Amino acid sequence: MITPELIEQMPKAELHVHVEGTLEPELCFELAKRNHIELEFATAEELREAYQFGSLQDFLDIYYQGCAVLIEEQDFYDLTWAHLEKAHQQNIRHTEMFFDPQAHTSRGIPFKRVVDSIAHAMTDAETKFGLSSHLIFCILRHMDIESALATVDEAIKFKDQLIGIGLDSSENGFPPNLYTEVFERARDAGFKAVAHAGEEGPPDYVWEALDILKIDRLDHGNRSLEDEKLVARLVEEQMALTVCPLSNLKLRVVDEMTEHPLKIMLDKGLKATVNSDDPAYFGGHVNANYLTVSEALNLSVNDLYTLARNSFDASFLSADEKKTYIDELDNFAQENGWK
Ligand code: HPA
Ligand code: ZN
Repeated sequence: MITPELIEQMPKAELHVHVEGTLEPELCFELAKRNHIELEFATAEELREAYQFGSLQDFLDIYYQGCAVLIEEQDFYDLTWAHLEKAHQQNIRHTEMFFDPQAHTSRGIPFKRVVDSIAHAMTDAETKFGLSSHLIFCILRHMDIESALATVDEAIKFKDQLIGIGLDSSENGFPPNLYTEVFERARDAGFKAVAHAGEEGPPDYVWEALDILKIDRLDHGNRSLEDEKLVARLVEEQMALTVCPLSNLKLRVVDEMTEHPLKIMLDKGLKATVNSDDPAYFGGHVNANYLTVSEALNLSVNDLYTLARNSFDASFLSADEKKTYIDELDNFAQENGWK
């Protein structure tokens, strides 16, 4: 039987979490005060109560407002550190995090400040907790292509600290083909490529992410299930999907958790993983995502094992590093009589 304790103790990786989406209302207020920024809400509780979203865009409008409190190096460090501490508490062994450089450079904050301070917290988490992590810079779809290309050029200067390029923000109306040159430039520089597609957007967007952006991993991808040929392609390539159950519920991608497609994805042979997306906004970190979806879909311990194994396998770690983590997971599974 799957229990909260089992989920908590299980070693796992998280591959879809936005650093800015880990900003809890309390820290948001603290940073606003530190930086003399006036927020629209009187208290952290009031802000949290405003986290009711009808769509992705509703959420993004609040998410970008939250970003405005992040100014100094210490702010980005504190934000990242708070998240990595929580990740460690949840037995996350490895995490691949997104950040949105343009949400900061567009406010006059240097790219270097953002990357250096996030990377500093990542190094400290590796030293203190043995928690490994990678960082992915995301291109904001709603901004222009010149800004996207300039962001790639900046990212190239910080190649040692960044593993890949991602694509996020408002999906509908911004098909992946718009970013052909942007992704080509990033891939040529040696970055891995991922993209949010098929969260709200149609299966065509997923095809484009595969064929044009040449992604190594698909973020969300829920709507791929509407296209049988696409599912077959994803299965054949063993393309990983970073699925985010609580995000899907909060952003109305699904109406009820019992209708979440995760079990169908697994049964079709899709390489699905479980992730939190923007935990401060969607009501739970990675373990809450595992628990809620396990209960709603009646997942088996075998499903749980597959999800955790996929999380390591779909990471951008080396083969040796993956093996070390998967061996640890296998030991855990054996101790619990799963295998
Ligand atoms: N989708 C698109 N853009 C985002 C998200 C998301 O779930 N979270 C932060 N930016
Ligand atoms: Zn996301």
